[in-house]
Amino acid sequence: MSPSKLTDNFLTFGSRMKTVAHIKLPIENEMELFEKKFKDSMLSKVPLLNRITYYIVRRKGKQMRPMFVFLVAKMVSDGGFDERTYRGAAVVELIHTATLVHDDVVDDSNRRRGFFSINALWKNKIAVLVGDFLLSKGLLLSIDNEDFDLLKLISIAVREMSEGELLQIEKARKLDITEVVYFEIIRQKTATLISACCGIGAASVGANQDTVQQMRKFGEYIGMAFQIKDDLFDYTDAKIGKPTGIDIKEQKMTLPLIYTLNTCSEKDKKWLINAVKKHNTNKKRVKEVIAFVTAHGGMEYATVKMHDYKNKALAILENYPSSTYKSSLLQMIDYVVERKI
Ligand code: IPE
Ligand code: IPE
Ligand code: MG
Ligand code: MG
Repeated sequence: MSPSKLTDNFLTFGSRMKTVAHIKLPIENEMELFEKKFKDSMLSKVPLLNRITYYIVRRKGKQMRPMFVFLVAKMVSDGGFDERTYRGAAVVELIHTATLVHDDVVDDSNRRRGFFSINALWKNKIAVLVGDFLLSKGLLLSIDNEDFDLLKLISIAVREMSEGELLQIEKARKLDITEVVYFEIIRQKTATLISACCGIGAASVGANQDTVQQMRKFGEYIGMAFQIKDDLFDYTDAKIGKPTGIDIKEQKMTLPLIYTLNTCSEKDKKWLINAVKKHNTNKKRVKEVIAFVTAHGGMEYATVKMHDYKNKALAILENYPSSTYKSSLLQMIDYVVERKI
């Protein structure tokens, strides 16, 4: 893709991101301060690292994870707040960024957030090391400030995310992957971090254990819906700032395809398996697989499952009184399933 085309993509990508602006209103000041802390938390004495982190900070993502930290903290404490909340938000975004940098190496993906990925610009070697640096900076931010309760929540997420990506490599290529395994993969690789965000938000303002646990569950359900949506995107040609159609190329079996394999005829199944096994880098064949899955109702099925998780998250919120923070969280949940990027 030419640089000018990429710049165009980046501009549309940027304007699409504005859709979350209204959700941020009750936490506008917090998000501003967070951005500064996030940027400062990446500083290093190594010039190459600073060049790369400068690039990362400029091409920021949707920042949904810090938003969850702030909104949950405010909702459970009736607008209360703590320095720990900022640090918690910076830690989760650092860890998230580290995993994206690594994920693009693992998935051999050359675009992220409407522009080149770190591995595309600086190669895998450097991307692996930058990911490690960001991970360590995140953990140290908690350790240096003795936020050990938050550190525990974040460390569970870090462990599960690595396990999730490895489980995916082990199982997602097996053509008999079950839905149960798929849900476990996405719980570990994606939902666990959003669960940590909501748990950290609550814990950072001194909420009791029951509330922290309830918020962790809330985040987990949102995270499940979030990854199903991400997997649905991959079967479309939506302009989402990163490549689509790469899950099949990487032989990553996701819900629309798993459902289709489990419910189509033996003959179609053989054709699908053969396409995914032997023709996964052939763009035309990948398109045919996607068309088949769509016609078979795989996208609809995954959408229904996504809404089931969304509803589970909504049910938890019913336990909390109305507030501006709660309404923003409700809008966030809608955004997770309706988003265009
Ligand atoms: C991407 O997360 C990784 C997944 C878990 C699917 P986001 O879609 O939140 O990424 P950014 O931070 O907005 O780029
Ligand atoms: C996201 O998985 C999980 C992470 C821990 C980053 P994907 O591989 O589907 O994420 P994208 O689509 O590259 O953002
Ligand atoms: Mg990926
Ligand atoms: Mg994806």
